[in-house]
Amino acid sequence: MGRLIVVSNRVATPTETKGSAGGLAVGVFGALKDTGGVWFGWSGDVVSETVANAGPTLEQDGAVTFATVGLTRKDYDQYYRGFSNATLWPVFHYRNDLARYERDEYAGYRRVNAWLAHKLVKLLQPDDIIWAHDYHLLPFAEALRAEGVTNRIGFFLHIPFPSPQILINIPPHEELVKSLCCYDLIGFQTDTDQLAFHDYIERHARGTVKPGGNVEAFGRKLRTGVYRIGVFPDEIAEQAKRYESRQHVMDLKQSLEGRKLIMSVDRLDYSKGLVERFRAFEQLLERSPEWRGNVTLVQIAPPTRADVSTYQHIRQDLEYEAGRINGRYSGLDYTPIRYLNQRYDRWKLMSLFRESQIGFVTPLHDGMNLVAKEYVAAQNPDDPGVLVLSMFAGAAAELTGSLIVNPHDSVGMCEALQRALSMPVDERQRRYEMNMAALRKNDLGVWRDTYLRDLRAVPLMKAAPNGAHGTGAGASRKTQDGAPDDAPAAS
Ligand code: G6P
Repeated sequence: MGRLIVVSNRVATPTETKGSAGGLAVGVFGALKDTGGVWFGWSGDVVSETVANAGPTLEQDGAVTFATVGLTRKDYDQYYRGFSNATLWPVFHYRNDLARYERDEYAGYRRVNAWLAHKLVKLLQPDDIIWAHDYHLLPFAEALRAEGVTNRIGFFLHIPFPSPQILINIPPHEELVKSLCCYDLIGFQTDTDQLAFHDYIERHARGTVKPGGNVEAFGRKLRTGVYRIGVFPDEIAEQAKRYESRQHVMDLKQSLEGRKLIMSVDRLDYSKGLVERFRAFEQLLERSPEWRGNVTLVQIAPPTRADVSTYQHIRQDLEYEAGRINGRYSGLDYTPIRYLNQRYDRWKLMSLFRESQIGFVTPLHDGMNLVAKEYVAAQNPDDPGVLVLSMFAGAAAELTGSLIVNPHDSVGMCEALQRALSMPVDERQRRYEMNMAALRKNDLGVWRDTYLRDLRAVPLMKAAPNGAHGTGAGASRKTQDGAPDDAPAAS
């Protein structure tokens, strides 16, 4: 079997793949270890042009090579901060109101994709399969094809795919979808995302969609499929239990003084519905005086993309809301919302989940939301907490034992909290078992193996007549925007 080449904007460190990072890092690394291969992407550093062009930096862990490149300031601003996170991210999360479009950022986005492809080609072997991840890399396969690469190239979108009416707000939407069609297999988190893509193909690209997710558009044939990302639930359960008697859990328990605990953990992102969640919790305190002083919401929200202005605004809004609600309902010995802008170790979080009576996960839009799955897996089967979950998280389709809510309905969310807080143990156990069965049936290994099986089954492209093949030998020596191949990334 050929090697696996994973490409993602951020690359986990070899240490993170051993379990401390999120599930994706662990799952993807599992597949890389099986066949050997490369994990390629941005190092997370902003560097000089000379350093960027000298990359990639290689780090070996058994048969797996971690290959990373730095980005110049201009590349970072245009590709990452600009088009990826100020255009694609908001639009793909249905927030056109927060999106901007700048031609130079879009050009930078394509230029960086072409440059990354050019860097990767040198590491490729003819029978490698390539698996690219997420919205930063929509045109990456097209850039590899321009380098003469004929290997199988797959893509998995971790975030929602918006309906065409939303997508067409991005001026170069057609060019983007055309580029996306250069992949051989596109994986989505949910049926809704796949349908939205098919809808675009049929109504805007005059393409065809055949049974089995086979698409013909822009002169290309490709496959689409739904692959719901999961977690390894038994491993999480074991770790959450193992950490339950550690000091941080003891400290939290002591400080709660017998109060019930609602736990939420999200990146500080406007798609996560944090303000709406705080207001629903406020409703609970307003409408159920018996819970005042008797329930605490712990919201852990590490800041993210702090140099994108919309993220600065959401941070301000949230600080305001937490202050306002705490001002209204705090007592000398009681703070209703504990709002923490810090990153916590993954296993610590799992043990905190296990201590809580409610997992409150209410994004306005989310590809899957692995926190919801982790919350369930971390519970004590004898006394499990209840997951209150947004209908707009991909996970809602599988975690049917949760209390499903609409995050725009603060009273509805408040009622779900009331119900969860007084739910009898036998009902909680029944709901937990339903959710755990879904997690075990479709764990992270199933997601990864099913996707890779389907990618390996895609018919191989014919090599170009000039002899160009999977290594990129004989490939075009032009980058995406027509610059000669040795041109600096940020010209
Ligand atoms: C989301 C995206 C990922 C991204 C992560 C962290 O989960 O789907 O692709 O890696 O956020 O975002 P950041 O901008 O900090 O890399």
